[in-house]
Amino acid sequence: MNLSHYRAAGALRDGTPIIIRAIQPDDDEALREGFRLLSDQTIYQRFFQAKRDLAEHELRYLTQLDFVDHVGLAAVISNPAGEFIIGVGRFVRLGSGRAGVRGVERDRTPAHAEVAFVVGDEFQGQGVGSQLLAHLVVIARDLGIRYLEAEVLPENRPMIAVFRRSGLPITEAVHEGVLHVELRLDGSQEERVGSGVGARVRPAAAAPDGGPGETGPA
Ligand SMILES: CC(C)(COP(=O)(O)OP(=O)(O)OC[C@H]1O[C@@H](n2cnc3c(N)ncnc32)[C@H](O)[C@@H]1OP(=O)(O)O)[C@@H](O)C(=O)NCCC(=O)NCCS
Repeated sequence: MNLSHYRAAGALRDGTPIIIRAIQPDDDEALREGFRLLSDQTIYQRFFQAKRDLAEHELRYLTQLDFVDHVGLAAVISNPAGEFIIGVGRFVRLGSGRAGVRGVERDRTPAHAEVAFVVGDEFQGQGVGSQLLAHLVVIARDLGIRYLEAEVLPENRPMIAVFRRSGLPITEAVHEGVLHVELRLDGSQEERVGSGVGARVRPAAAAPDGGPGETGPA
């Protein structure tokens, strides 16, 4: 499968159809515009710092992906006016010489990747984060990644809920006020049965997607 053309169907809790698709280089303007719409709290939970804009080099980093060491998916709603990005999820393989999801290099083996998400404020709590994680897990396994890690603020209950409900073996540890979560992807078949992840992913097609989104988060 050509992961840079990854595309799958999904839905919000209210039944609204969404597409989960690979982030493209020409999503840069949509991500920038969407970022400007995010609340301060959402930005802080994603980047651990206050931020009002994304710099050019950050936009390049977030959209020019190799789909080997850095994989990113956008959740989009299509309507007659165009395509609207409502959330993104990504992982960056650690030990690959790349900076992690917050631009900080972390020392791990390439079997580890760091994962991060952001969903537009008005679309949070509708299953987008969970569906993005489910697809990222399938792709990560395909790329030989065995652990997905995340740094989460301990008060970020929705993110913690998404990880805990994934059905994957999970370890959690608090270090310097940040919760470190590690999901194990290479569990036995028994551990995978009934996993929320497997249950939520529909087969993806390697179809080209419909062009640049209008707006969306980072
Ligand atoms: C964290 C985030 C990515 C989750 O995405 P999402 O689309 O909102 O997640 P989902 O709808 O799939 O699931 C959220 C879960 O948290 C639960 N939840 C929501 N608010 C909650 C709260 N205050 N306390 C406890 N659980 C809460 C929801 O009920 C849901 O669980 P359920 O499916 O069992 O009902 C999204 O909320 C977000 O972008 N937050 C800001 C940025 C961020 O925190 N990024 C993570 C950095 S690693």
